[in-house]
Amino acid sequence: MPLLLKIAPDLSDKQFEDILMVVKQEELTGLVISNTTISRADLLSSRKKIEAIGAGGLSGPILFSKALERVQKARTILGQKAVIIGVGGIDSSEKREQMLRAGADLIQIYTSFIYHGPKIIQRLTTDL
Ligand SMILES: Cc1cc2nc3c(=O)[nH]c(=O)nc-3n(C[C@H](O)[C@H](O)[C@H](O)COP(=O)(O)O)c2cc1C
Repeated sequence: MPLLLKIAPDLSDKQFEDILMVVKQEELTGLVISNTTISRADLLSSRKKIEAIGAGGLSGPILFSKALERVQKARTILGQKAVIIGVGGIDSSEKREQMLRAGADLIQIYTSFIYHGPKIIQRLTTDL
């Protein structure tokens, strides 16, 4: 049975490396990288506004660079056999391409679909 594990971007490097080892040893199908973040670092909004919004996972552009870096590392460590789905802030054909080049077999979108609607498909595939 195919089994993909979806991970949080908030894992430490050590936790992420441990998970890669488990995926390898247990021969899981692969990883979905990544889920939303509980971090509030690098946001443009004021601290007051961020605090008023409260707890919860953040999605969208803030996730992209971390997801990209971890897709790349996962591909290097796991090799070609693992299935990797890249997700987090993908909202353009450039980002789609970067994620695929980093080693993702597939990409997933969520937030960009909410903001752009079905037209996001055209945005993501415009140069294909
Ligand atoms: C409102 C909302 C609900 C979500 N619910 C789930 C969920 O039930 N299960 C899950 O694995 N990921 C869930 N996610 C995470 C998304 O699948 C995705 O991993 C994350 O939002 C990053 O992608 P994005 O930047 O394209 O939104 C949710 C995200 C949002 C914004």
